[in-house]
Amino acid sequence: MRVFLVAGARPNFMKIAPIYRESLNRSGVNCRIVHTGQHYDHLMSQTFIEELEIPQPHHFLNSGSGTHSVQTARIMVGFEAACLEEHPDLVMVVGDVNSTLACSVTAKKLGIPVAHVEAGLRSFDLSMPEEINRMVTDSISDWFFVTEESGVENLLREGKKREAVHFVGHVMIDNLLHQLKRLEETDVREFPVHRLKETLGDYAFLTLHRPGNVDTPERLREIASALDAIAEDRPILFPVHPRTRQRMESFGLKLSPRINRLPPLGFMESLYLWKDATVVLTDSGGLQEETTALGVPCMTLRENTERPITLEMGTNILAGTRRESILDAYRKTLERRNLPRAVPPLWDGKASQRIWEALGNGASG
Ligand code: UD1
Repeated sequence: MRVFLVAGARPNFMKIAPIYRESLNRSGVNCRIVHTGQHYDHLMSQTFIEELEIPQPHHFLNSGSGTHSVQTARIMVGFEAACLEEHPDLVMVVGDVNSTLACSVTAKKLGIPVAHVEAGLRSFDLSMPEEINRMVTDSISDWFFVTEESGVENLLREGKKREAVHFVGHVMIDNLLHQLKRLEETDVREFPVHRLKETLGDYAFLTLHRPGNVDTPERLREIASALDAIAEDRPILFPVHPRTRQRMESFGLKLSPRINRLPPLGFMESLYLWKDATVVLTDSGGLQEETTALGVPCMTLRENTERPITLEMGTNILAGTRRESILDAYRKTLERRNLPRAVPPLWDGKASQRIWEALGNGASG
């Protein structure tokens, strides 16, 4: 069986790494990696390929940035050519980025079955491009690999056949647990942020990149004003996403000097910082889940989440995007930080194995 495994944006690499690794233990599976080039900066792409032990992609589509339509269209054209060249038996897409939508639609129109890993998540907020990507991909996929119970419920409500929906746990947590072990064997003094971390001791860790949060000056200023206030209480470490860096520059936004701005970090260096943070503040989907898996208190700078299990487990809190709601969530997070946490069902490092087992058993929709 020849399988195309698609990655395009930074969070995709964390998800394909364990799936690829596990494919090497399966006889009869030939996994080919397709990198769409949605993210292309060394720090947003190649760093992850090297660090997460993924081989160099078999196909690189070089799509680059652009408006949603331009980017999606470029990926579709490149991916169609790759499919026509190699005729894969299955296309596996992960997550909810533009590459996920572009490649699933292209494959399906060529009559190639599609497996969606991280299927069924819903924020019910169609102003998020990711929600559109998730819904379109799920509307045409054949296999649904689901990370949490809410995903199963959403897919069944939308009319998917029960036998096509596989609750397997989370491949991103497979990767996290694998990398955590490697981190224990790493000399962390080699990380450029090592000295800063040691000096600060107690700090918050921040990531921020959602268009809804960073693309308008009013919203970004509101969030920044809450962050400045939090930084008075404890310093913040902030690896800055390229989108956010550009917006901050064009809006002329200055942050408190107690917010330490860092370049985008590799996976290990980032993990090294956030796993020991007193609190993580983020609008990323993945970090909400990774903090839940390790029991690190997290505040999500959004009004909603497509990952409700992270709220139910007690690690994550929805902080909203207004100054007062963020500060209120910060106080609550500190109050709750010593309460017991639970890890979601099947987030045990074995999701990739379950995916290949299900595919081997042939039970799709
Ligand atoms: C994309 C995903 C988002 C994911 C995020 C993770 C979509 C719709 N969005 O958002 O779900 O959480 O990746 O990072 O797919 N840029 C660079 N270098 C790069 C890549 C991008 O400088 O390597 C800049 C470009 O100016 C680009 C901007 O960042 O216009 C945004 O990149 P884009 O891929 O469009 O969306 P993200 O905000 O990264």
